[in-house]
Amino acid sequence: MCGIIACRTHRPASEYLRIGLRRLEYRGYDSVGVALQAVGGDVLRLRTIGRINSLETLLGQCAETEFTGAGIGHTRWATHGSVTEDNAHPHADCTGEISVVHNGIIENAASLRAELACAGHSFATPVDSEVLCHLIEDERLGGGDLVDAVHKALSRVQGSWAIAVLEEGTGRIAVAAKGSPLLVAHTDQGDFAASDIAAIADWIDEFRVLEDGDVVELTNTQRWCHAGVVVSPPMASRCDWRSEDVELHDYTDYMAKEIDEQPHVAARVLDGLIGGVANGRLWNDLGLPAFGRLQVIGCGTSLNAGNVIANLVRSLGALPVTTVVASEAAAQVPDPDQLCLAVSQSGETADVLRAMESSAVDGSYVLALTNNSHSTLARLADAVIECSAGPEIGVAASKTFVCQVISGSALMISALVAMNRLSAGAATRLVDDLRRVPDQLAAASTVARGAIPPIVDEFVDADGFIFIGRGSGLPYAAEGALKLKELTYRWAECCPAGELKHGPLALVGPGTPIVVVDSGEPKLACNVAEVASRGGRIVTLGPAGSSVPVVDNVSAPWGPIGATVPLQVLARSLALTLGRDVDKPRNLAKSVTVE
Ligand code: F6R
Repeated sequence: MCGIIACRTHRPASEYLRIGLRRLEYRGYDSVGVALQAVGGDVLRLRTIGRINSLETLLGQCAETEFTGAGIGHTRWATHGSVTEDNAHPHADCTGEISVVHNGIIENAASLRAELACAGHSFATPVDSEVLCHLIEDERLGGGDLVDAVHKALSRVQGSWAIAVLEEGTGRIAVAAKGSPLLVAHTDQGDFAASDIAAIADWIDEFRVLEDGDVVELTNTQRWCHAGVVVSPPMASRCDWRSEDVELHDYTDYMAKEIDEQPHVAARVLDGLIGGVANGRLWNDLGLPAFGRLQVIGCGTSLNAGNVIANLVRSLGALPVTTVVASEAAAQVPDPDQLCLAVSQSGETADVLRAMESSAVDGSYVLALTNNSHSTLARLADAVIECSAGPEIGVAASKTFVCQVISGSALMISALVAMNRLSAGAATRLVDDLRRVPDQLAAASTVARGAIPPIVDEFVDADGFIFIGRGSGLPYAAEGALKLKELTYRWAECCPAGELKHGPLALVGPGTPIVVVDSGEPKLACNVAEVASRGGRIVTLGPAGSSVPVVDNVSAPWGPIGATVPLQVLARSLALTLGRDVDKPRNLAKSVTVE
């Protein structure tokens, strides 16, 4: 989704913005733009609905212009207003003295727009973000200071924002945030701000995260204001994101690289956690109280991982568990004895963040399972467990799913030991099983490489797929269907195998692809027979004897994790055969910051 970078550097800002915007590409975008200060003070805005290469071309056409180190840039993922050059950020006020890039939503944009229009402002676009430019313009009338003007303007705004504001003439840049991530960093090359650490990681060693309501000026003294009052900057965090982590090396796409990385990252995650599992230390170190019920909240792939963890807690701990789609969480009735486990690789998913403010989690402790320990979710939660997958660039989640499953399972086993719901002996046996997961993933990868290509050849013309499973296999079937539809744009329906006969069986005809995730459930065979007798073309992912034999421990409480790899490979290979961009599927974004 939208991404922001801003800098005041000793060298021309364009040198940094063009690299930083490329680093934001993975989030998904439909237009891109920069505002750059030229020597002499004028600000030049360059925007395009093309890719970043088109922006490079525009920059190339300004080769005669000498730029200062002040600039702001943005990748846009349209929400208000169609995808046009005019609607791309940065936006400007009536005078062109204020340029703004914005992530988030201005909820009262319509009423502010009407008010500002009555006061004589003219708007160039229907985009909510443009309102911010005119509000700041108003507050600067009569020589108001930029930082004060930004603070006062934002006090009239309802909604969420991360913004960077560039002032013509002075080249001053103010940044501000509420409900949308933004971080700033001071380095010997200058000062930077970004909505995503990936944008500026090449140049920084540490960074500070803005709290809701903060306004900060990008200078070496970093004037930090909260609610209009100058405050001390928050503690700095070390930046451990390195650009070499996001190089493709010999891979053609990130999806392939990230699928292949899974055995290695799974081993690394386990190395970090395993010593605290059978003794309950991993849980005890979080300082959370015991719980009598678990509520798991997430979206998409993270919800699928949450369902795996939910099954484990039910089966090992005999605890009641509910799993909730984050965007529907507000309808939930909280339980005083519940722990809320919020699962989100980005930690910035708006639906999950809103769920944290809803009555669903009223009075509950919140534990965040995330791949971003500096995220808004991590800051909102009472405790955090990192899934430690490393940077994931492919928009469709792959290794973060596996790492969520592993770290969430390890933590919940530890919790059950600490709460005397699981014996240390049983937990030790589970730890031994967990240690085998990286090898199982590596073996699954080898099997998938041989087994999936002929299946892809056979299904290339199929326009719909059904994925089925039972029990612990079901979340994996759901994840397989989600990956297939995301990457191939083909219909894929996941259905509990026992539900087939209650409706979805009507979809099955001769040759309909049925992907079965077999976790050893005895009743699955009957359901498979039901589709076979209607001519469905069945592919089973399961224990030895399956068409894709990738599951060697059907009793693992985290389910048939080995099935993950062929499901991902099937989706990616079919998508490539169909000519899709597997790293940037249409209409999707890596970090979904709108509700
Ligand atoms: C699927 C996918 C999405 C995300 C979902 C939640 O491949 O990537 O379904 O899982 O948007 O995102 P996070 O985990 O960042 O909360």
